[in-house]
Amino acid sequence: MHITVIGVGHVGLVSAAAFARWGHEVVGYDDDPRKIDTLRSGRAWFHEPGLDDLMRAQVEAGRLTFTGDPDAAFADAEVVFVCVGTPPLPGGGPNLSFVEAVGRSVVEHARRDTLLVEKSTVPANTGKRLEQVIARESKRLGNGNRIEVASNPEFLKEGAAVQDTLHPDRIVYGTSSAWGRDVLREVYAPLVEQDQVPVVETDVATAELIKHASNAFLATRISFINAVAQICDRVGADVSVVAEGMGHDVRIGHRFLQAGLGYGGSCFPKDVDAFAHLAAQVGYDFQLLEEVRRINVGQRHWVMAKLEQELWHLDGKTVAVLGAAFKPGTDDLRESPAVHLAKELVDAGAEVRVHDPVALDNLAREQPQLPGYPEVEDALDGAHAAVVATDWPEYTALPATTFQERLAYPILIDARNVYDPDAMLDAGLHYHALGRRSIDTRPV
Ligand SMILES: NC(=O)c1ccc[n+]([C@@H]2O[C@H](COP(=O)([O-])OP(=O)(O)OC[C@H]3O[C@@H](n4cnc5c(N)ncnc54)[C@H](O)[C@@H]3O)[C@@H](O)[C@H]2O)c1
Repeated sequence: MHITVIGVGHVGLVSAAAFARWGHEVVGYDDDPRKIDTLRSGRAWFHEPGLDDLMRAQVEAGRLTFTGDPDAAFADAEVVFVCVGTPPLPGGGPNLSFVEAVGRSVVEHARRDTLLVEKSTVPANTGKRLEQVIARESKRLGNGNRIEVASNPEFLKEGAAVQDTLHPDRIVYGTSSAWGRDVLREVYAPLVEQDQVPVVETDVATAELIKHASNAFLATRISFINAVAQICDRVGADVSVVAEGMGHDVRIGHRFLQAGLGYGGSCFPKDVDAFAHLAAQVGYDFQLLEEVRRINVGQRHWVMAKLEQELWHLDGKTVAVLGAAFKPGTDDLRESPAVHLAKELVDAGAEVRVHDPVALDNLAREQPQLPGYPEVEDALDGAHAAVVATDWPEYTALPATTFQERLAYPILIDARNVYDPDAMLDAGLHYHALGRRSIDTRPV
């Protein structure tokens, strides 16, 4: 099939490369010419394991090209996937103006019947608004082609995006006609035949809602276990063992029950807010989601309180923050809890040193006030305390002696619960974990 992907970012680029791998002819279009230049040079413009290789193989096979010219992008497309950003607005809802812009562009440039598929995360009933835009623009511009809207939400995880896209847990699409459904069946046929992936075929609004409900549910699990960690901290229980004990129940499962600094990234915070905003718009007060958000932000305050407990005033103290990316495997800093924490420390007067294995270039560009340290040892040298803010494997591998020898005061806040508390405490560190044994709760 002739597929065009609009917005070759974290979702669009991986999707474009995967569609090409399944044998389709794919054009990736972006309105940022610098990104197109980088992609044409054979590299992704962001860090994602395995993506450069997958992308280059498809470009070499002649199935994947990139363009910044909308005419070239839309003219031959049977299917157009909308993968542009839907960033949060101050009121909590997502900014859908980029999605709307694609709707108008399709009408302006399409030269054949086109299925316009929302892959961007959008609130339920965005498809209806898009159809309205398309109908008005088609009339205005005299474009008589059939342009229909479908929804095909994306569930990939940054850091594992290639694997998730090539071997997804499920495919969800919502369409409003048999034609739209058949087009999407054909797009995914190679994957479904090869991998027996479960497919959920539904209407557009239901598909849109599946995405928001999924992300809100995952965020709720994280906040739930973080609230349990608060109780564990107060009664001297170990949240990681509590989570393990809970997870053996097949109705619960083990995933997304790691207590820590909370969720971040470009999706969960935005999607929780957007889902609560949609609920309010349609007259339902989804207070559970307000709590999920409150607990999430509270985790950062908890870390700040532990640091103040240890260091008294943070003004004039030096704190090494290990990790900047919102999770391991990515250089994405959007809504990163590590970055939020580092900024709160700066606001409290602390000198902050940030280490990250891959995200320091983005940090220098997006948060120039936060000094980046390429070597973890340099970030630790002489600092009054260290906080593990992202669970990169590099930090898990650090021995207690590194902290003992490098830090001015041996204070370690393990905000991702990556270490064995007893090993850290035995080594003499003032070790604080979130909901696990720490210097405060160790039996004497
Ligand atoms: N990042 C994730 O892990 C993830 C996972 C699932 C769903 N999503 C959703 O997918 C969507 C995209 O997220 P992302 O992380 O890929 O964003 P991104 O910022 O990485 O990529 C978006 C791309 O769209 C381009 N763009 C914006 N407006 C455009 C326009 N009018 N025409 C052409 N290109 C345009 C931008 O230049 C950028 O390259 C969002 O709705 C997000 O919620 C993201």
